[in-house]
Amino acid sequence: MARKFFVGGNFKSNGTTTQIKSIIEGLNQASLNPNVEVIISPPAIYLPLAKEIASNGVQVAAQNVYDKGNGAYTGEISAAQLKDVGVNWVIIGHSERRALLGESDKFVASKTKAALAGGLSVILCIGESLEEREAGTTIDVVTRQLKAVADEVSDWSNIVIAYEPVWAIGTGKVATTEQAQEVHAAIRKWLRETVSDKAAEETRILYGGSVTDKNSKELATQPDVDGFLVGGASLKPAFVDIINSAA
Ligand code: PGA
Repeated sequence: MARKFFVGGNFKSNGTTTQIKSIIEGLNQASLNPNVEVIISPPAIYLPLAKEIASNGVQVAAQNVYDKGNGAYTGEISAAQLKDVGVNWVIIGHSERRALLGESDKFVASKTKAALAGGLSVILCIGESLEEREAGTTIDVVTRQLKAVADEVSDWSNIVIAYEPVWAIGTGKVATTEQAQEVHAAIRKWLRETVSDKAAEETRILYGGSVTDKNSKELATQPDVDGFLVGGASLKPAFVDIINSAA
């Protein structure tokens, strides 16, 4: 089965009502490659707005979800609440949450399990820090992060993996195509050995970290790069070029 190219736009904590409307209207009017699955992820408070106005096949993802149902969890949003407003996707395990908010592999795995059980599809972010890369432990780190999820989840059909080296996020320092392909191939091998042949064949593995319209075309040529998770550039008109860079 061919893996449909997937491009996600992670707006992070950026945007106002006016700005988010304008980004989405730009996407609505753009000519987007129909063979690419496009997902945008505005801050939670703008999810209903995004759902209401996005057209042109553009889907919407939350940037986080809690691992419990509705209840006394101040400030959290449940999978059921995301579904209630028509959101079908969630980003989990972004390095900004792992690093700044101390989210552990175990918590990320627990949230992934809860999201899937609640009927959401998950963009699961993994990636090594600069120190870990320099110590030669990149593959150990990403497979450790994946293993925590595999301990909780057996069906990977609603998971998209985003490999995002922490040193490349928001730094302008993109991984080389060789670096990306090497890690993506290792992730696919891990899927084959740990989950199933089917998961290895069908799971989309995205690259994220300083993706722009300047580097996306070349990255997209790599056999194990099935798309991108884009931060900064997803707020700009050039996001359309990144979407259309599918090989
Ligand atoms: P960036 O962010 O494209 O701004 O580097 C990517 C991400 O954090 O998903």
